[in-house]
Amino acid sequence: MKFHITTFGCQMNVHDSDWLTRALESRGWEQADEGEAQVYILNTCSVRDKPEQKVYSELGRIAAHLKRDENIFAAVGGCVAQQVGRGFFERFPFVKLVFGSDGIAGAPNALERIAEGGDDRVALLDFVSIYEERETSEERTVSLPETRQAFVNIMQGCDNFCSYCIVPYTRGRQKSRLPDVVVEECRALVASGIREITLLGQNVNSFGQDKGGVGVSFADLLYRVAEIDGLHRLRFTTSHPKDIAPEVIRAFGELENLCPSLHLPLQSGSDAVLKAMRRKYTQERYLSIVEGLKQARPDIALTTDLIVGFPGETEADFQETLDMVERVGYESSFSFKYSDRPGVAAVNMEPKVSPEEASERLMRLQTLQNNITKKCLENLVGLETVAFIEGMSRKQNGEETFWKGRDPAGRIVNVAMPESDGLVGMMVPVRIIEAKKHSLMGERIGIPW
Ligand code: SAH
Ligand code: SF4
Ligand code: F3S
Repeated sequence: MKFHITTFGCQMNVHDSDWLTRALESRGWEQADEGEAQVYILNTCSVRDKPEQKVYSELGRIAAHLKRDENIFAAVGGCVAQQVGRGFFERFPFVKLVFGSDGIAGAPNALERIAEGGDDRVALLDFVSIYEERETSEERTVSLPETRQAFVNIMQGCDNFCSYCIVPYTRGRQKSRLPDVVVEECRALVASGIREITLLGQNVNSFGQDKGGVGVSFADLLYRVAEIDGLHRLRFTTSHPKDIAPEVIRAFGELENLCPSLHLPLQSGSDAVLKAMRRKYTQERYLSIVEGLKQARPDIALTTDLIVGFPGETEADFQETLDMVERVGYESSFSFKYSDRPGVAAVNMEPKVSPEEASERLMRLQTLQNNITKKCLENLVGLETVAFIEGMSRKQNGEETFWKGRDPAGRIVNVAMPESDGLVGMMVPVRIIEAKKHSLMGERIGIPW
């Protein structure tokens, strides 16, 4: 069977899609271009209204392929699938499988049964209360991704119920994996040649604090993974500020391979809005975490998520967000207009901020962020660092070949190097020679390794 996966949403979805791809390939299925697939899989996101709407337009496009072959069918997975469930079967008769994030473990077998004509329609929407280990296909460790980077899930779900957020409803309660299983997976990946690992969870700082916990904290886990011989770069995402432990902050000063970057979603700079969002920290507490991090690791690059136009947000509240962005000096940030999600607490909060006002705030915030990003990048010109090469750069000028890499903090560094191949997955010593709007230019100053 030929399949085509389209993925929306966060890194956890990207990672889930990678796993599903490998699981199907190990059953002899083949990835195909959109025009040739027999099975279309959408891995969806419902965190805001826009990505949810994209799912429907994407299904409309898939419907057009039915003219080519009427046996073509689709599967919808991820957060919108969890939310809408069997509703997809009625609206789109060619959707034969819906699966939520807890149901994904059963998706490869279900797809096989449907393709063989054994099952007509399958819904895998039940939540589980303990992390369900998924089959590991040999390829995970045998065929090394060229980039030598890997994601490793450490947990699933979220218990925080921030008042704007649908994730706890679509991904279910928090379920941690067993620390030994996580460490073993990391060890096998490094043994197979992986050099960079990103530990993934909706709120990694509360790892182990659920039914699956065995008394190993996130800090303990970080130290255990960091000591794997041959692991050059370790990252993790996402961190909720309320749960970051002093030991995790300290780890940034102690673990050499823990990368000097942290994504620490602030959401709003106003204590009143933070309270309504149920974030359970204040501006002051957030700033003390930032101070601790900068003490532990002076070169740490902080990034964040921000929501503008949350119900009740006044101009003065928004000003506080702008002030926080300046004070912390984020290297970059993702900022979003508040979007009502079905069933979340904020839906009933008033007064709503008008879309015009929210757009205007978003623009002001993004202009400020662009200026700060520019300054952060300019400050790096002249410094020496190491770029971990991920592939060819999008910019090419005909004479030189540009490669795209990342410095330890995760900033994009483009480097001109004559080699036509063989550099992906290599570490290249570079000096930063220029700051662009969202990336850096580097020149090679040493031998790639
Ligand atoms: N677990 C992660 C975030 C997952 S959602 C965390 O807690 O950091 C990613 C981001 O989407 C959030 O940080 C938030 O900024 C944004 N977001 C979530 N719900 C939203 C909503 N209803 N409207 C607008 N943005 C939202
Ligand atoms: Fe959503 Fe909050 Fe959980 Fe993040 S911590 S996934 S924003 S409920
Ligand atoms: Fe989106 Fe679900 Fe991730 S809502 S952000 S795909 S957890």
